[in-house]
Amino acid sequence: MRWIGIIRVVVILLTLLSTWYFAETIFATKWEGKSLQSIFDKRADVAESPKKAHKKCGNEKDCPVDYFTFKIISGAANVVGPTICLEDKILMSSVKNNIGRGLNMALVNASTGELKHTGHFDMYSGDIKEVKAFLEKMTDGTLMLLASYDDPATKMDNPTRDLFTSYGSSYAKKVGFRDSWTFVGGKGLKHKSPFEQYIKNNKETNKYDGWPEVLEMEGCIPRKMD
Ligand SMILES: *[C@@H]1O[C@H](CO)[C@@H](O)[C@H](O)[C@H]1NC(C)=O
Repeated sequence: MRWIGIIRVVVILLTLLSTWYFAETIFATKWEGKSLQSIFDKRADVAESPKKAHKKCGNEKDCPVDYFTFKIISGAANVVGPTICLEDKILMSSVKNNIGRGLNMALVNASTGELKHTGHFDMYSGDIKEVKAFLEKMTDGTLMLLASYDDPATKMDNPTRDLFTSYGSSYAKKVGFRDSWTFVGGKGLKHKSPFEQYIKNNKETNKYDGWPEVLEMEGCIPRKMD
């Protein structure tokens, strides 16, 4: 009888010890772990500490005066929608609920940066006529910021490709089914746009099963001066 009592006490002690040990380990990792550190880092970023001040659109670099800061992120596969940011303002995103499968375009006054129009066009089963109607809004002195999402090209025809080419695009001629494409163009540009990225949908090299990698492009667009 006495033995059973002693064994009970030992078992209870062991249970207490191991509980304490586990609690200790868990809390130790929680408090020292990276997760907490990164929360503090993020806070510091938002608080605009002088060491790491917030840059417009969350970009790496500030732009000089008379330049627009932009960032364009293409859609990820058919899952995550694209984002278009100009001068620290999100022009198009899932949160703004103004994006969709296909081509996503924001038209902006090239002198003031003012947003004039946004449009998204289903290029898999939509009507290319709607894209053409939208592109009629591209008057002289208008900038276009474009991001692909899922499939930007099945319904693309040659006249539409030519229009994008006339805005300074180098890849509009060959953009195809489920390619990734980001582009900043302008009506009345004399040269090819330096702001364009393109990845071909290729089973061998795709990041996702049926889609290539997401494109992320940022930089400084010179403001149009008259
Ligand atoms: C851009 O804004 C300026 C100033 O308001 C205006 O004069 C110009 O016509 C606008 N350009 C376009 C293409 O909307």
